Amino acid sequence: MFPLQPWKKATSTVGLVVTRGSGCTNVMAAEWTYFVAREPPHIAVVINEKNWTAELVGLGDSFTVTLASSGQADLVDFVGGFSGRDVDKSTTSGLRFEPGSSVEVPWVAGGVAAFECVAVAELDLPQYRQVVGEVVDWHETVPEPAPLVKHDGMYHLGIPVERVAVVAAAGLLSGGRTVRVCATGPVDDDLPFGIRLDALDGTTVELGGYPCDEYGDLLAEIEVPEGIAVSGLTIQVSRPGLRSAVVRLARPHVES
Ligand SMILES: Cc1cc2nc3c(=O)[nH]c(=O)nc-3n(C[C@H](O)[C@H](O)[C@H](O)COP(=O)(O)O)c2cc1C
Repeated sequence: MFPLQPWKKATSTVGLVVTRGSGCTNVMAAEWTYFVAREPPHIAVVINEKNWTAELVGLGDSFTVTLASSGQADLVDFVGGFSGRDVDKSTTSGLRFEPGSSVEVPWVAGGVAAFECVAVAELDLPQYRQVVGEVVDWHETVPEPAPLVKHDGMYHLGIPVERVAVVAAAGLLSGGRTVRVCATGPVDDDLPFGIRLDALDGTTVELGGYPCDEYGDLLAEIEVPEGIAVSGLTIQVSRPGLRSAVVRLARPHVES
């Protein structure tokens, strides 16, 4: 047993999963909703075997997933609290369906985005079944509302994380005096990274600015200047406004 209830430590955007069967349309809330592939996009939902939804979706079936907005918390609570076996949830107050464009199943309007899916894989888990849907069509809400974030309770998205440090690692490429330096910094400024080499004998070499890529990352290969001992070298990677990273050379990098 897991007294900790470890799933309450995870964070996700709640999904509104819509299914159809024998003329009925059903909707349930699923916090265990995740993208699991990009091209084409695939989305996975994890469904308790006791839920009516589990009966309504199987391999080859269509379903839709709306990533709920924070304004849909009350609706999520309802469709996540009652089963379609007890009441026809398609008549729920405040629930607005839009017809699917590529599948027969409607999608819930008012979320961050909605995805029309066809179930292409299933994984049986204890008491649960994960259904993976290939996304065949999608709908965005413009302007995009804030997502409904689940982390034990339901939350608004918080404030963006402030980036405070360069994080780096460096390794000597095998057999030479070439050092590969990898570093990350925030994406939203494209300031170059400064690299400084500090030798054991106290010699310091400033290597100037190295541009980051579109993700704010750096991957640079640097020749250690003549006269600087590679052994014991320390590398400082800096960027304005951030705490610098100071790293020792890792063991020689094995090329694969
Ligand atoms: C915020 C929230 C998140 C939920 N996430 C899940 C989930 O990821 N998987 C699941 O099986 N049930 C989840 N549930 C519970 C189902 O939505 C609930 O059992 C629902 O009544 C099932 O409806 P159905 O029987 O009509 O399919 C969640 C409920 C709430 C309120």
